[in-house]
Amino acid sequence: MGEKTVLVTGGGRRLGAATVAALVDAGWFVLVHVRTSRAEADALLADLSTAHQREVGRVFSADLGTSEGVRSLADAVLADQTVVEHGLGGLVHNASVFFPSEGEGAPADMARARHDLWMLHVEAPVQLTGALQEALKRGKGSIVSMVDTSWGKAWPHLGDYSASKAALRQRTLGWALDLAPHVRANAVAPGAILAADWEQDAFADTVARLPLQRSGQPEDVAAAVRYFLEAPYVTGQVLAVDGGWGLI
Ligand SMILES: NC(=O)c1ccc[n+]([C@@H]2O[C@H](COP(=O)([O-])OP(=O)(O)OC[C@H]3O[C@@H](n4cnc5c(N)ncnc54)[C@H](OP(=O)(O)O)[C@@H]3O)[C@@H](O)[C@H]2O)c1
Repeated sequence: MGEKTVLVTGGGRRLGAATVAALVDAGWFVLVHVRTSRAEADALLADLSTAHQREVGRVFSADLGTSEGVRSLADAVLADQTVVEHGLGGLVHNASVFFPSEGEGAPADMARARHDLWMLHVEAPVQLTGALQEALKRGKGSIVSMVDTSWGKAWPHLGDYSASKAALRQRTLGWALDLAPHVRANAVAPGAILAADWEQDAFADTVARLPLQRSGQPEDVAAAVRYFLEAPYVTGQVLAVDGGWGLI
């Protein structure tokens, strides 16, 4: 087992799985949180374990849409042998939901969906950080929050999503100040990396307008997460991984 242990929420598939793989490749021991993607996460860790010929991580299931779920994840992480021995070296707030308030992809029960969105993007990271901050201090660890490149802009019918990510961004800057000098905190702001099912056409239109004229790869985002986890003098920063979207 490595001494560098990191928890990645929502790490079973898509950008979270790419982050898990990149961190294992870099020598991290990864605690992979999932809600429904248990089988995918188990398979990912099995493949990585075979490739690296070592135990590379463990999977924990929890619904971060409730405080009870957040608490159960925090308790499981704090009881994990690597965290007991070495503290926690990283906490990546990656779990997310993404939907518009109108049109294709809009949830039938918008009030419930909006509640879950704010819980997942803001309240769960706040509760999880609070529960794990002593372990992060012991591990000389850092926090990386996955936000979004939508800061300062307005997207049609995505006000709840972008507002909740803006809240997480601001909360992360607060952690950078309040938890210093023991714990660093930074944020990665992806642009158009992997489309949701309901936004394929709009995603293609956006990508065509980007300065770099292509979508990003999950590995591009994973590399930014790894950079922040391993950069001992960097805190309070937000890094856009968006192909230049912020320029247009
Ligand atoms: N994809 C992009 O192009 C893009 C662009 C900008 C920002 N981002 C940000 O980058 C991060 C990763 O993006 P992504 O597209 O890979 O994310 P995603 O697929 O939308 O969500 C990541 C994971 O969140 C977990 N999750 C959802 N609801 C949950 C709940 N109630 N409790 C616990 N976990 C829950 C799911 O885990 P299970 O599968 O285990 O259920 C899901 O796999 C997100 O924070 C996203 O906002 C992504």
